[in-house]
Amino acid sequence: MVYCFFFLAVKRMQRGFLFVNRTWWKETVVYQVYWRSFFDSDGDGYGDLEGVIQKLDYIQDLGAGVIWLNPCYESPDVDNGYDISDYYSVMEKAGDMNTLERLIRETHRRGMKLMMDVVLNHTSDQHPWFIDARSSKQSKYRDYYIWRDKPNNWRSYFTPSAWEFDEATEQYYFHSFAVQQPDLNWDNPELRQEMYRMLRFWLDKGVDGFRLDAIALLAKQENFPDSDEPENLSYLTNNPKLHDYLREMNEEVFSKYDIFTVGEAGFTTPEQGLLYVDERRRELNTIFHFQVLDEMPTWDLRRFQTIQTNWYETLKGRGWNSQFLNNHDHTRLVTRYGDDTRYRAESAKAFATMIHTLPGVPYIYQGEEIGMTGVRFDSIDDYHDVAMKNKYYEEVGKGHDPKDVFESLVKLSRDNSRTPMQWSSALNAGFSTGTPWIKVNPNYTSVNVEEDLKRPDSIYRYYQALIRLRKQYGVIVYGDFATIPYSDADVYVYTRRLGTERILVIVNFSLYEKRLAPIAEIALDKAQLLIGNYPEVAQPDTFRPFEARVYHLA
Ligand code: NOJ
Repeated sequence: MVYCFFFLAVKRMQRGFLFVNRTWWKETVVYQVYWRSFFDSDGDGYGDLEGVIQKLDYIQDLGAGVIWLNPCYESPDVDNGYDISDYYSVMEKAGDMNTLERLIRETHRRGMKLMMDVVLNHTSDQHPWFIDARSSKQSKYRDYYIWRDKPNNWRSYFTPSAWEFDEATEQYYFHSFAVQQPDLNWDNPELRQEMYRMLRFWLDKGVDGFRLDAIALLAKQENFPDSDEPENLSYLTNNPKLHDYLREMNEEVFSKYDIFTVGEAGFTTPEQGLLYVDERRRELNTIFHFQVLDEMPTWDLRRFQTIQTNWYETLKGRGWNSQFLNNHDHTRLVTRYGDDTRYRAESAKAFATMIHTLPGVPYIYQGEEIGMTGVRFDSIDDYHDVAMKNKYYEEVGKGHDPKDVFESLVKLSRDNSRTPMQWSSALNAGFSTGTPWIKVNPNYTSVNVEEDLKRPDSIYRYYQALIRLRKQYGVIVYGDFATIPYSDADVYVYTRRLGTERILVIVNFSLYEKRLAPIAEIALDKAQLLIGNYPEVAQPDTFRPFEARVYHLA
């Protein structure tokens, strides 16, 4: 009996210990910079690293602590930098190594950190390893990639087959994305050492962490069995040996530095997610799981709540989560999940309130903080997204009506989130004095930074206030999370609690006013309102369209 009590007490202490294990990255807010669409400093139509430096004060003023910089390594740019041909140099469009080093220094000088985006699953087909590997079966680099005599029936993310026949050596190579992005063979220990060396190179330059692209794909299924459901790409992810590689990577590299890591992990359940982020396993700090963005095409609060709760309960006391609702691969949140017309500002703020008060590290994708919206171009020729274009030509090739195919792809095209950052109502939204590489969203004349900075009630100012609040109230970062079951399917009610401190969050995710029934004996009129997205609260129990409030409970 005594033993049992002791055991439980130790268990509780261990859990408690993890929760109070405070680290800088748990307390931060990450701002994602898709540099090619951020700010063009030299008028060539592409954003660049110098442009990022010039806008660092803007990011600092917002309150973000970490910048996630999308890949800027040497690349033929078939997939906007996710096809790397040299991990040790900077793409000309982005700038050069000196500018990148200056960006790191300037970020640090402002008390912020910089996280690089690194692609470990594949290289470009123009990488010298691949050029050599495909030249002969005897190449020293042949085994850095994956070759077979016969393809299986798997799809890749971007093409109908994951295999490409290579004439020179009459074998097929494996690619999880475009044909120009051959997958690396992580079974090869020399390849792994090459990658660790490269990661150390960047950490020794002073970068503060990595966003690890497509990390769930590193390990492949042995013998590549055919799939009964080739359209369901989950066979590409979470395969045996993945966690061996991650543990080794952590031991060889990450554990030697005070850094932050976030892995991109599609098709990952909470149980699988825990394997990456369980602090005792020493692999990654956090992951992005895509149970929301990949499986919830339109807003579904009930489903969202279930996903949040499952992840929270599974990771609780053991690992840390991430909170985000858009990025460079996913349509902007006000367009996809909110209302990008009448309630653009209200819905942008409502989702922000939630992202910044749920447990996990919040991410802001550039332009989200001013409520930038998705876009609709007239023709497929205006789009650049390789995923969208490949799918378009694949479907049209099958004989489908080009207009229907176009319509089916427009809403979720990755270009929705890749249009230039809207700085002002000047030419090209103040992004570039040249011709932007991708068209500007025509609504820049009203939706832009300059406008938001002028207005005390703007979306930008609201994000600033949310970030300040997070810094002020440790409970928002470290508090336990509990959903208050609520009968209205559009209203999310939850609390965070740390010791005696408790906050209550209520968000109405609908276009209609909602009169709330009493919530678990909480008297809203007596609670202290910390932040809300409407100017004043006349009736505490009435929530207007997309109204969100955060209360401090005594
Ligand atoms: C995920 C990246 O976010 C996406 O932009 C890219 O196309 C694929 N990984 C392939 O690297």
